[in-house]
Amino acid sequence: MPDWKHPPRLFIPGPVKVSDDVLQQLARPTLGHRTQEYMQLHGETVQLLKRMLFTDQHVFLSTSSGSGIWEAAIRNCVAPEETVLCTCCGAFSDKWAEVVTLCGREADVLEVAWGQAITPELLDEKLAAGNYAAVTLVYNETSTGLANPVYAISEMMKAKHPDVLVFVDSVSAMVGLPLHFDDLGWDVTFASVQKAFAIPPGLAVAAVSNRALEKSLSVPQRGYYFNFELWAKNAAKDQTLVTPNIPHIMALHYQCSKLIDEGMERVWKRHGEMAQYVRHWAGEKFSIFCDARYPSDTLTTIRNVMGIDVAKTIAAVREKHGTLFSDGYGKLKQETFRIAHMGDITLGELEELLGWIDEEIG
Ligand SMILES: Cc1ncc(COP(=O)(O)O)c(C=O)c1O
Repeated sequence: MPDWKHPPRLFIPGPVKVSDDVLQQLARPTLGHRTQEYMQLHGETVQLLKRMLFTDQHVFLSTSSGSGIWEAAIRNCVAPEETVLCTCCGAFSDKWAEVVTLCGREADVLEVAWGQAITPELLDEKLAAGNYAAVTLVYNETSTGLANPVYAISEMMKAKHPDVLVFVDSVSAMVGLPLHFDDLGWDVTFASVQKAFAIPPGLAVAAVSNRALEKSLSVPQRGYYFNFELWAKNAAKDQTLVTPNIPHIMALHYQCSKLIDEGMERVWKRHGEMAQYVRHWAGEKFSIFCDARYPSDTLTTIRNVMGIDVAKTIAAVREKHGTLFSDGYGKLKQETFRIAHMGDITLGELEELLGWIDEEIG
């Protein structure tokens, strides 16, 4: 019987396993959110994040999950009469396109098959043929386990479409994959902390460019809770617009300090090594779902070519070892399964997990 008080160790692609030392941060005495203590916590956390994201522009903390920033980017930075080009290559990029429409903006779609990447060439061609205020892109498609070639895309954008705003969902990429916000020339990017930050869900981190903030000032009806202008006014005082999720910010401060001490190059290398290990295992028995040129370093989506009973295997590993990995997402539920290798998950734990899966599939 499931028991929420004794959950399995999580190797699903978010929320991921949270270490005990991080959980302890969430139990610290709380602070008043307009006090000097909070301002110190906020200011230090944002400075750490700026170093991790290689930016001198705005970094905001949002008491929401990452999806809130899908909406914030559109409502703040795209005028009602403007059109957004939404690149779609899996469940989450599809969803963002839907959110654009739900926000009342015109969405045009550049779509490739699930498992394929958005390439600079495809994007360039589509942008050249239309008139777009912004483009949406998912860095790491958590459904297909594909990391889009965002560095090459950004070079193309800067060279050929410098006036188009670039919004990038880094929900399952940030921390695990390189992200040099200012050099990439992005305008909005964001993550939920339950992914590679390895914190329980309930907070999002967003980087916003100066030009995105400036553009937002001319956009009508931006709402209140996700209003970048109001966020920036409060951030200037090391505060947030509304009462934030302070325990999560304490945990974020703790995790960011550890990551900065480790060094981002080493953090990305660590994720790369875990990914290599899982991909090697997957390649011997199954195959990788996505185009092999663009595999993600934070999770692997494995094509079930052996025809194993995925649900039964997941249940057996959970039952015997108190450990949970994931089935496929959405329409890939039966066809694939997914293993996360991000955050505080270790290579040793992955070896253990893959060994247990081996025992089940024979
Ligand atoms: C790429 C991507 N974008 C957005 C989301 C939505 O994140 P949240 O549920 O934290 O808002 C997810 C969740 O897995 C995701 O993987």
